[in-house]
Amino acid sequence: METLYLKAGEKGTAEKAAEILKKGGTVAIPTETVYGLAANALDPSAVKKIFEAKGRPQDNPLIVHISSLEEVEPLVEKVDERLYALAEKYWPGPLTVIMKKSSLIPDEVCAGLDTVAIRMPSNEMARAIIKQCGFPLAAPSANTSGKPSPTRAEHVRSDLDGKIDAVVDGGKCEVGVESTVITLALEPPMLLRPGGITPEQLEDVLGEISLSPAVLNKLADGEKPQSPGMKYKHYAPEVPVTIIKSDFETFEKFLKAHNEKICAVCFEGEGKNFEHYIEYGKSGDSSTQAAELFDALRKVDETGCSRAFVRCPNPEGVGLAVYNRLLRSAAFKVLDLDFNIPVYGLTGQTGSGKTTVGELLEKYGCKVIDTDKIAHSVLEIPTVIKALCDEFGEDILQSGKINRRALASRAFENEDSTLKLNEITHPEITLITLKEIRQAEDGGFKSAVIDAPVLFESPLKTLCKKVICVTAGSDTRLKRIIARDGISIEEAKKRMNAQKSSEYYIENSDIVIENDDIEQTKLQIEKLFRERLI
Ligand code: TXA
Ligand code: MG
Repeated sequence: METLYLKAGEKGTAEKAAEILKKGGTVAIPTETVYGLAANALDPSAVKKIFEAKGRPQDNPLIVHISSLEEVEPLVEKVDERLYALAEKYWPGPLTVIMKKSSLIPDEVCAGLDTVAIRMPSNEMARAIIKQCGFPLAAPSANTSGKPSPTRAEHVRSDLDGKIDAVVDGGKCEVGVESTVITLALEPPMLLRPGGITPEQLEDVLGEISLSPAVLNKLADGEKPQSPGMKYKHYAPEVPVTIIKSDFETFEKFLKAHNEKICAVCFEGEGKNFEHYIEYGKSGDSSTQAAELFDALRKVDETGCSRAFVRCPNPEGVGLAVYNRLLRSAAFKVLDLDFNIPVYGLTGQTGSGKTTVGELLEKYGCKVIDTDKIAHSVLEIPTVIKALCDEFGEDILQSGKINRRALASRAFENEDSTLKLNEITHPEITLITLKEIRQAEDGGFKSAVIDAPVLFESPLKTLCKKVICVTAGSDTRLKRIIARDGISIEEAKKRMNAQKSSEYYIENSDIVIENDDIEQTKLQIEKLFRERLI
C-alpha cells in the first residue's frame, strides 16, 4: 500500500487523518511522548491491522487514547475516583492509567485481559484527530516491534512505510519516551512503566504506589509480568549495547582500550573525545536525555560499529524512564566500573610464576581473580558456544562442548580470526571479572587483583590502580613450563617466543617482582605491603 504523508500544521490534516481512521485504516500520529500507530479502538479488524504492521505479539495490549475526560466513562467498568485526581494534574499528558474495562473494549485491544489502559495525550494534533473521529484510538508506538520507539516522522517512515495508510508529521516529540503506565486495578497502585510523569508526581496524588519488579529487573524465563509489554526485547539496535556505570574519565579510558570499532553513546560535549559517538542529552538533565534517547539508539546502527557503550543516566525522576529503556536496549547488560576497593593488575610472561605471587598476595588479604579460569568458563556459556560455532564452524564442538584445541587452531589462524574470537569472548570475561571484583568488595577483601597474562591488551587494565608484573630468567621459565605442561623444550621455547619481551612487561608496569627464588619473592611482597605500595 502507498503511505500518505500529511503535515500536522496544514489545514485539513485532522480531517484527512480522521477520514482514513473512520474507514478502518491505520494512521501514525504525533504525540508528546512518541509517535503512535492509531486505529479505531472499538473496531477489532482495524486494531488487527496495527498488530500486523508492527509485527507485534498478539498478547501485548494497546493503549486507548482519548481527547476529553468524558470519554473515559463508557470504556471502563466504573471510573475510579483517583482517576479524576490524576487527570486533574497530569492529563492531558504522558500518563496512562489502567482500570477494569467495559464490554465496549474489544479483546483485541486488551489482549484478553479484563483491564484497559487509557491516556489523554497533550499533543494538540493527536487530540484534534481523536475529536474528529468521534471514537477513541488504540495506538501503540509506531515502530516495528523490538525497535526503538519513533520520536520523529522519519523514524516511522523507516519502519512502516508501505505498511500503514498515513503518517501525520508533527515534528520531534518533546518528551521522547513513552508515557508512564500505572494500574489502579492493583492495591496499592503499581507503576508498570516509568515515563514522563515521575513516581514522585504519582505519589503526590495517590499516596503509596509500588514499582513493578519488571521496571529494573530482567524477568525470569516464563515469569509473567503485570504489563505484557515488559517481557519483550525492546528498543534494541542491531549493534549490541552495554551500559557503563562510571565517571566520564573511566568511561573514556575503558572504551579507548578496546581495539574494536566502538560507538560511545554519551552526553552533550563528551563525543569529541571519541572517533565514533552519538550524544544523547545533557549530563545530569534527564529530560533532554529522554528527548534524545531513541533517536540516538536508532543512529547506533548507522555507525557501523561492532559495539556501543552507553553512559549510564541517573535513574531518578524522568531518568528512571531513560534507564528503564536503556536496560532493555542493552538486554540488561550493565558494567559497573566504580569500586570501593583498589583494583590491581597482575601479569607476566608464561612461566614467570604469577600464580605463586598471586597466592602470596592472597595471604595479605587480596582477592586474586584468575582470568584464565574465567576465559575457560565462558566457553561453557550457551550464547558464546553458539556465536563461536557461527563464526568458526560446528566442528569445533565435541559432544556439545567446545573442543579448545579445535577452537584454537581456527581462532589463531590469523589476526582477523583472533579478533573475532576476542569480540565474542572478551565481553563475557569482562562481565564475570567485574562480578568477581564486586564480590571481593562485598566479601571485605582489601583489594582485588586481576591475574591476566594479556592484561595490557585488555580494557580491564584501565581499572587497575597499579600493574604488578612478575619476571623470571628465561632458563627458570623454560624449566617451569616444561615441568608444568609436560611439553618438549622446542614447544616450550616456541610458546615463550610468541610472547612480548620481558622489557615490554616491565615498561608497562608500576611494580616488578623478580620471582626466581621464592624466599626473595616473599621478601619483595612483604616490602610492598610494609611500604604501602599496594
Ligand atoms: O506514550 C505512549 O504511551 C505511546 C503513545 C503512542 O501514546 N504508546 C505506547 O504504546 O507506548 P505501547 O503499545 O508501545 O506500550 C503500551 C504498554 C505496553 O507495555 C503494554 O503491555 C501496556 O502498555 N499495557 C497496555 N494495556 C495494558 C493492560 N491492560 N494491562 C497492563 N499493561 C498494559
Ligand atoms: Mg512500544
